[in-house]
Amino acid sequence: MVTTAEGMEFDLVVIGGGPGGYATALYGAAAGLSVAVVEKDKMGGTCLHRGCIPAKEFLETASVYRTVAGSNEFGILADQPTVDFSVSQARKQKIVDQLHKGLVGLMKGRKITSFAGTGTLHPGHRVTIAGADDETTEISGTQVVLASGSVPRTIPGFDADGRIVLTSDEVLDLETLPASVAVIGGGAIGCEFASMLSDLGSEVTVLEALPGLLTGCDADVVSVVARSFRKRGIAVHTGVQVTGHEPSGSGTTVSFGEGQTVTVDAVILSVGRRPLTEGLLAEGTGVEIDPRGFVTVDPYQRTTAEGVWAVGDVVNTPQLAHVGFAEGIVVVKSILGEPVVPVDYGKVPWAIYCQPEVAFAGMTEAAALEAGFEVLVQKDPFGGNSRARIIGETEGLVKVVAEKLPDGKAGRILGVHLAGPWVTEQLGAGYLAVNWEATPDEVAQFVQPHPTLSETFGETVLALTGRGLHIG
Ligand code: NAI
Repeated sequence: MVTTAEGMEFDLVVIGGGPGGYATALYGAAAGLSVAVVEKDKMGGTCLHRGCIPAKEFLETASVYRTVAGSNEFGILADQPTVDFSVSQARKQKIVDQLHKGLVGLMKGRKITSFAGTGTLHPGHRVTIAGADDETTEISGTQVVLASGSVPRTIPGFDADGRIVLTSDEVLDLETLPASVAVIGGGAIGCEFASMLSDLGSEVTVLEALPGLLTGCDADVVSVVARSFRKRGIAVHTGVQVTGHEPSGSGTTVSFGEGQTVTVDAVILSVGRRPLTEGLLAEGTGVEIDPRGFVTVDPYQRTTAEGVWAVGDVVNTPQLAHVGFAEGIVVVKSILGEPVVPVDYGKVPWAIYCQPEVAFAGMTEAAALEAGFEVLVQKDPFGGNSRARIIGETEGLVKVVAEKLPDGKAGRILGVHLAGPWVTEQLGAGYLAVNWEATPDEVAQFVQPHPTLSETFGETVLALTGRGLHIG
């Protein structure tokens, strides 16, 4: 039965309550729009429940383990730590639940109406919501935003069973850690899980089809991660095709490359995420889906149907929560007719939380050269940084790529790439430099506090002016 309740017409109806959807809703409500959000699971989406937040919490668990395991160097004499992952799991869940409660409260505070169920867009901006009780409610919005997100991809022969073959969804719910794992895919998710599981004692093998880990990151940054993985005993095979697996006993034997195999307790699939559009659109909405399954949008997030917009992982832009936030803001400003700048996807910040961490914004050196720039490049390792020595984490570097002007001096900063301690928290200055198209001369005037890790960025930029303090 379809119920069309009174007062069920909104300025804005958002389908999907993940970062893209809830940011659109919160920003829209803050601007005075009447807003409804339809969510079939829990408000917060993949990021809060099956992605960024739980994964980073476990990576922090791994960091605590490393700190305790290395404490003797500081004169803090502790026994070799052991892991009770059920406690880690409970802590993670507590944090997720607290954030979920906070988000729900925030939405209520903004008078956003939440509907539980699967939302489907019909012609005329009508949205039906199929709830758990077989009841269907119908609402409508002057504007509708599609924000249904993505799900993990799988590969043929590897059906996720939650026991031997796991996607990120299942890994984040583990109560005990597998003694050995094969991680298929060496992108952001693969490297984060490989790092975390290795630090917590699992034997890890990474199998990546492309020639290197973390495709899209600068080659010097990737080298830092690859070197660290090697030192920590993570086996990395790149340029290999995975051909199948044969379960045996409590584990399975994975075949890859030219007849190579590895026998493990579990396989983790981290081969990308695909947009989730099943059941999202009824016939005749006019919303186009591209051949890869993404909703087609223009730079302002408009779909091919008037008054229908799309944000987040369901569109073919970087699958990052903060990109979803930014896209939501673009949508609301566009609806309100305010001046708006589309998201510049080539300059968004990236933060990958493996050990050592990776963070960057803008072009890699290779991409800048490929785009036809002449470049000046400066690298500064964290090894020379006093704070890095103090905290005992000297792995990594800062690399700045600047345009080379005809007079040989450095022009605009095109890219800032970091690998090392807390770099996900250090990217801010580099991000601003890239997005303001600042030159090293301009950025070098800013004073970095001493002793901090951020001095390495300051030093790198100073060296690009032609005169460094400690380097160049
Ligand atoms: P990804 O696309 O970044 O990496 C997947 C990797 O799997 C690629 O390197 C690909 O070559 C490889 N691959 C694909 N099929 C394969 C096969 N059959 N055998 C071996 N290798 C294969 O996707 P990932 O890591 O799953 O992440 C999904 C999305 O979530 C990405 O857009 C990622 O950027 C984002 N994400 C971002 C994070 C962050 O910024 N901290 C953390 C986690 C995810």
